[in-house]
Amino acid sequence: MARILITSAIPYINGIKHLGNLVGSQLPADLFARYSRARGHEVMFICATDEHGTPAELAAAKAGKPVDQYCAEMHEAQAEMARGFRLSFDHFGRSSSQRNHKLTQHFAGVLADNGLIREVAESQVYSIDDGRFLPDRYIEGTCPNCGYTSARGDQCDNCTKQLDPTDLINPHSTVSGSTNLEVRETKHLYLMQRSLREKLEAWIESKHDWPILTTSIAKKWLNDGDGLQDRGITRDLHWGIPVKRGDQPWPGMEGKVFYVWFDAPIEYIAGTAEWADANGLGDEAWERWWRTDKGAADVTYYQFMGKDNVPFHTLSFPATILGSGEPWKMVDYLKSFNYLNYDGGQFSTSRGRGVFMDQALSILPSDYWRWWLLSHAPESSDAEFTWENFQASVNKDLADVLGNLVSRVTKFAKSKFGDAIPAGGDFGAQETALIADLGARIRTYETLMAEMEVRKAAAELRGIWVVGNEYLQSAAPWSVVKTDPEKAQAMIRLALNLIRIYAILSAPFIPDAAATMMTALNCTDWTWPSDVPQAIRALPSGHDFAVPENLFRKITDEERADWQVKFAGVRT
Ligand code: 2FM
Ligand code: ZN
Repeated sequence: MARILITSAIPYINGIKHLGNLVGSQLPADLFARYSRARGHEVMFICATDEHGTPAELAAAKAGKPVDQYCAEMHEAQAEMARGFRLSFDHFGRSSSQRNHKLTQHFAGVLADNGLIREVAESQVYSIDDGRFLPDRYIEGTCPNCGYTSARGDQCDNCTKQLDPTDLINPHSTVSGSTNLEVRETKHLYLMQRSLREKLEAWIESKHDWPILTTSIAKKWLNDGDGLQDRGITRDLHWGIPVKRGDQPWPGMEGKVFYVWFDAPIEYIAGTAEWADANGLGDEAWERWWRTDKGAADVTYYQFMGKDNVPFHTLSFPATILGSGEPWKMVDYLKSFNYLNYDGGQFSTSRGRGVFMDQALSILPSDYWRWWLLSHAPESSDAEFTWENFQASVNKDLADVLGNLVSRVTKFAKSKFGDAIPAGGDFGAQETALIADLGARIRTYETLMAEMEVRKAAAELRGIWVVGNEYLQSAAPWSVVKTDPEKAQAMIRLALNLIRIYAILSAPFIPDAAATMMTALNCTDWTWPSDVPQAIRALPSGHDFAVPENLFRKITDEERADWQVKFAGVRT
């Protein structure tokens, strides 16, 4: 049994996330967490809301609420969505927690003690019409690197380059649209990432098994000369973690807060401490996941995120950890995703384009979305959600292949042989061949799941469902029962056990359907079917079962057309 630490990029607090956000971090992280637990590993799966920064402040102002109240409410709303999508976090924390305040201030303190923080008198953009310093994200303009005209002051979404607002060409305030901006002097703390270059490079170079998407982004910014600049870690905002040096005041930094991207990844650690607090456990409970001097040396740590987050997790956050000189657990495997597009364009939170988590759940249960999103995860390239494709996947994979098998087998078994698994007959050549085939396919599935090859794993799982259908098609117990009822009983005994195997294998993707299948089989034994000959006999003859409700319904053409129209516009 291994110890597996999993974190998903923590979603910004402002607003309900769209399906593109979901498939880029939380959902695949959940898939991996569920799979790892199913294989008997000890798992710690942490996520949280990312609550600081100007987006939170402005969203609260727009909602007419104090920012702390707004964040508390939105945290609850996001937690509700996470429950709706069956995201199995061990803890869903908050980056505004006291745990994160303390840890963030701690890291800043030790970085300063290690000579890695310097004060910089900075010229910052002040918006005269808005009456405030404008944080980086709230200035937009043209990217000096690629020419994209909606680049933000912190990063260009088009080429992922980390930017400073003063790099932008033709900048304007996105708060008011005003171009009446001026540059004013203010003092900030900078993390001297450049002095950590060699350490960072050696660390990244040691990650031979990382996905190409991750390493290519990491190396691009590491080697791009200005990719690894010293970074400002403080901001002139009210809402955030007050700048302190450990628990001491930081002279000259009064009234300033840490930059949201400095404290957000620290929340992975703080969130685990929040988990310990919530469960009445002491510090040793979370430290054994994070401190290599306190038990975390044998932890394997996996991070999940969209590609835009990769520079922060391969350079900035590791710089914080390495610079601290303290024995913190660092990420072992960083799984990153491309973007999911929506019906010919981009999903967009600010523009309200696409399907959002609450909307999705209002039309169909979470398994339908989980299956489509994971089986189309944007791994090797960007992917696109279309309603046609969604309808086809749900109707074919879930309703026709899996759902139909479960309903056909249980209904037939019940009508011919009664409430219990029938005892007659023995397995013959066809059954032996199926068992061997399943064995090989399950090994492949396990490898793909362990490697987090999400799409390929989904395809293999679908293949596993298909071979069961093919077996039934050719074995045809519904015909055999007329001439050789004993033989038909053996086939049905196998098929009912096959449903149990399918439930266990499918649970990481479609947990609700899996639970329904197991309940119908009156079974609580979720032992992973490593040994297929044994697993196919797990439910013995005489064991009671029921016919479950239809697992999946089909999406009609009218519904598809309706939703296409309903979700074509923008959400307000
Ligand atoms: O892109 C985002 O949604 C960020 N809030 C992710 C932060 S991940 C980490 F740093 F915590
Ligand atoms: Zn750019």
